[in-house]
Amino acid sequence: MCGIVAAVAQRDVAPLLIAGLKALEYRGYDSAGIAVLDHGDVHRVRAKGKVREMESLYLANPFPGGTGIAHTRWATHGVPNEANAHPHTAGNVALVHNGIIENYASLRAELQAGGHVFTSETDTEVMAALISERVESGMSLREAVTATVRGLEGAYAIAVVSSKEPGHVVGARHGAPLLVGVGIGEHFLGSDAQALIQVTNKIIYLEEHDVVEITRDHVQIYGRDGKPVERAVHESELSTDAVERGEYRHYMQKEIFEQPRAVADTLEARIGPNGVLPNIFGVGGDELLAKVKGLHIIACGTSYHAGLVAKYWIEEYARLPVNVEVASEYRYREAVVPEGTLFVAISQSGETADTLAAMRESRRRGYLGTLAICNVPESSVVREADLKLMTRAGPEIGVASTKAFTTQLAALGLLTLQLAHQRGLDGERHADLASQLQRMPSMIEKALELEPQIIELAEHLIHRQHALFLGRGVQYPVAMEGALKLKEISYIHAEAYAAGELKHGPLALVDEDMPVIAVAPNGPLLDKLKSNLQEVRARGGELLVFADGEASMDGNASRGAILRMDGGGEFIAPAVFTVPMQLLAYHVAVLRGTDVDQPRNLAKSVTVE
Ligand code: G6P
Repeated sequence: MCGIVAAVAQRDVAPLLIAGLKALEYRGYDSAGIAVLDHGDVHRVRAKGKVREMESLYLANPFPGGTGIAHTRWATHGVPNEANAHPHTAGNVALVHNGIIENYASLRAELQAGGHVFTSETDTEVMAALISERVESGMSLREAVTATVRGLEGAYAIAVVSSKEPGHVVGARHGAPLLVGVGIGEHFLGSDAQALIQVTNKIIYLEEHDVVEITRDHVQIYGRDGKPVERAVHESELSTDAVERGEYRHYMQKEIFEQPRAVADTLEARIGPNGVLPNIFGVGGDELLAKVKGLHIIACGTSYHAGLVAKYWIEEYARLPVNVEVASEYRYREAVVPEGTLFVAISQSGETADTLAAMRESRRRGYLGTLAICNVPESSVVREADLKLMTRAGPEIGVASTKAFTTQLAALGLLTLQLAHQRGLDGERHADLASQLQRMPSMIEKALELEPQIIELAEHLIHRQHALFLGRGVQYPVAMEGALKLKEISYIHAEAYAAGELKHGPLALVDEDMPVIAVAPNGPLLDKLKSNLQEVRARGGELLVFADGEASMDGNASRGAILRMDGGGEFIAPAVFTVPMQLLAYHVAVLRGTDVDQPRNLAKSVTVE
């Protein structure tokens, strides 16, 4: 998704801005640009495609200047091309924007009626025009930005410069993140800490409706009422090492292999021999959880799949009713909220616009409280939740989520165990679940050893157009996650079905060209699943079966293959069986030669609706 970097420094800022944009590349984008002020001139370079393409244009014709703004754009209004790329200019102003302005059409029509000529199809350009007009009429840049954002509907994080005020950058946020990087004699703005970590680890997170003005020596933030406010400076724990690719070919591969450590970190100091340790969800967390009579879990994408796994777990072990819903649906419908319901938001980034909006909407729906399961401590979702449980996956760069998912499962495993224990789960069963959860890192480690066999399996899929994924019970969401991974990065059309639904429609698609990938761990539903697989086999479909241990799968893969692994027990098997799904998608994509870490059209953190 779009990224922002801005800087005011004594040194020339263009190289810093470009380095910042490179650190944001993982978010997904389709064009990039920078604008730098130099003695009253605005130098600008923009290009469709990767940052390096824009960088080579800059290097062919470099420009000096200590005040600048930069952007990676993920197209929403208008195709990805140079004209629509940010920064946008109007009169004395250049501006970059993340988010969507919903009332831009009427603002644009008014400006056009007044004679303004637009050069792009974007919603952003109207802001540049409005701010420029106001600066021309005598307002300072900050006053002009403040007056302009008051008339906007929608979501924005912006950074603005004016040739009339060299040495100043003004930023504002509402509904999209923006933060300040505090340096020595230089200051920065960025849409996430990753963009700034190369220049400073001192970060101020802006609040909703804040306007900020940075110069080389000062940072001044103004709150919603326009009065100066103080915001705390945080030391970011991000390091540039955490975002190095090391020996791996892609970030996604590195992140798949980091899972044993990431899951171990997520469980560390949170679970002991007697179960979950006190108050890991925050002060007062255990008392609140003891009152819960049901849960609504809201998330998007991969995080939604983690929520679906948790539904099976919590309903089985804690006997509490759980609804799981994608945030974009939940936020616009009148969900019934029974008394005592806990709202749970799951989000890797903590900035996904739909999830955040759903959480805000939940405030007026009478929940018992809100719990965030998230990977970014300073994110909006975490800051706005009553209770929080951080996943400790570390930065995830690959757009297709991997370690974020398994660490979410580890966190949801802790939540399940706590809820179940409080509701009197039998001691022996509780101890078994606790020990399975503690084994999750080592079982994932073992599953990673399957990589050579999975590379062979990947060959079966590379020339296919479609694939079906099947699972039953708690493994159905794992099949969904497997299908999502494959479609995201290999562009093979993949669908997941609860295996029992096969005969109600998708069986019509099965022939020798349709590979069927089945997740088949041991458990009460294994025999049922095997019958479903016979239905595929009888129609000549090619089966790739991931089976637990020595469980008999006889005759089920006369075409295709059976890959045997150890799920580590019924409770943690969804996390362990996810690993081969990730590796399969990864290797199919590598063999097909796609852009694994930045698949086309997708973004890492979707901060627009
Ligand atoms: C985007 C990403 C997915 C992610 C989803 C939800 O679509 O590409 O990988 O699962 O957003 O993101 P979140 O940060 O809220 O978990």
